[in-house]
Amino acid sequence: MSETLDTLLNRNSHPRLTEPGPDSEQLNLILRSAMRAPDHGRLRPWRFVVISGDRREALGRCFHESLQLRGVSDEAQLAKALSAPLRAPVVIAGLLHAVAHEKISRDEQGHAVAAALHGAQLAADALGFGCVWRTGGYATDPHVVEALGGATGDQVIGFLYVGTREGPSKVLPEEPVESMVRYF
Ligand SMILES: Cc1cc2nc3c(=O)[nH]c(=O)nc-3n(C[C@H](O)[C@H](O)[C@H](O)COP(=O)(O)O)c2cc1C
Repeated sequence: MSETLDTLLNRNSHPRLTEPGPDSEQLNLILRSAMRAPDHGRLRPWRFVVISGDRREALGRCFHESLQLRGVSDEAQLAKALSAPLRAPVVIAGLLHAVAHEKISRDEQGHAVAAALHGAQLAADALGFGCVWRTGGYATDPHVVEALGGATGDQVIGFLYVGTREGPSKVLPEEPVESMVRYF
């Protein structure tokens, strides 16, 4: 089987991640893979923000502020927000930066960003890294989007947490194709 198919057939998420994360050359490959995603009209509706090193603490403070602005006062939740970005050496935020287009909807542009993030996940996997895609209330919070340099109306389609897998990967369940496919 080709290595490409092996990656496609066996990718899975890995939430427990540690150092090292991808270096700049590997990050470049991950981001270039993302940018090969199908993109109707070549609108380039994606923007990527890489957060690593101590900038992850700044992102944690931003998440903390986001919760406070949304009225959360639970100490455990606030503490979790502060440390959330430290769960991987590198976090890549993939933002939807939609443009007005008479035929290509915002939704469709969001699908392109999702495809790009999946491309990034697959590339990270192919390079030997673990990865997990997360969203949560932060993704659509304008406070977080603005802190990431996004424009009004932008939204985070996914935060990809990328790093070296810690512990064993979960066993992928066997899923018969027939259970979700029919032929018309
Ligand atoms: C749009 C999107 C948002 C997600 N958000 C979260 C999240 O906030 N937290 C989380 O634990 N998993 C989230 N996931 C799911 C994980 O990334 C992952 O796909 C899931 O745990 C299943 O594991 P698998 O990818 O190995 O099948 C999200 C997935 C997608 C596609």
